[in-house]
Amino acid sequence: MKGIVFTEFLEMVEQKFGLALADQIIQESHLPSGGVYTSIGTYDHAEIVELLTHLSQNTATDASVLLKEFGRYLFDTFLDKFPGFFTSCADGFEFLESIENHIHVEVLKLYPDADLPRFDAERDGNSLKMIYQSSRKMSDLAWGLMERTMDYYGHTASIQKESMGEDGEKVLFTISVVP
Ligand code: HEM
Repeated sequence: MKGIVFTEFLEMVEQKFGLALADQIIQESHLPSGGVYTSIGTYDHAEIVELLTHLSQNTATDASVLLKEFGRYLFDTFLDKFPGFFTSCADGFEFLESIENHIHVEVLKLYPDADLPRFDAERDGNSLKMIYQSSRKMSDLAWGLMERTMDYYGHTASIQKESMGEDGEKVLFTISVVP
């Protein structure tokens, strides 16, 4: 997993819960990196799971809730670092549809060792169905990113999440816009 995910995660923890807790979860986690990340480095995905688990324990908050919150936070990072992806899309659905065939394709050119999820998107009237697939099981991160996407483009939307299978690797999102 790319370092930008770790640096942003720890920054969010620091902002929302304070530096002391950010340090504490690093100490409590088993981290081959030692908890030192650079945005362009690549680290074991298990490290983010460790950090998230300890944040969850220390804040008595479900890891899924924290991961979704992180998705909302990460959206603003992407907006700041990659503004072109946002200005080139007219609305939220166009942006979400462009992840698989444009945004993540460009991400892979920037970071050839990035591990990206697969999204299959299909419109259905005022809804967009998106199937998330990844062995990293980070659909709650996608959920937060989708929520902020719809806010950012000024839509009022509801997002439903359904598991397709038991293990969290395949998830169906139905994003419905209130016209
Ligand atoms: C400008 C917009 C975006 C950029 C630049 C971007 C970039 C990235 C990067 C750098 C990673 C980390 C890859 C790695 O660690 O190896 C990533 C992962 C991910 N991205 Fe995006 N992304 C964008 C938008 C989105 C949106 C809107 C969604 C959700 C609908 C999304 C869903 C995900 C998920 C869930 C992952 C975690 C990896 C996984 O689940 O396998 N991304 N993205």
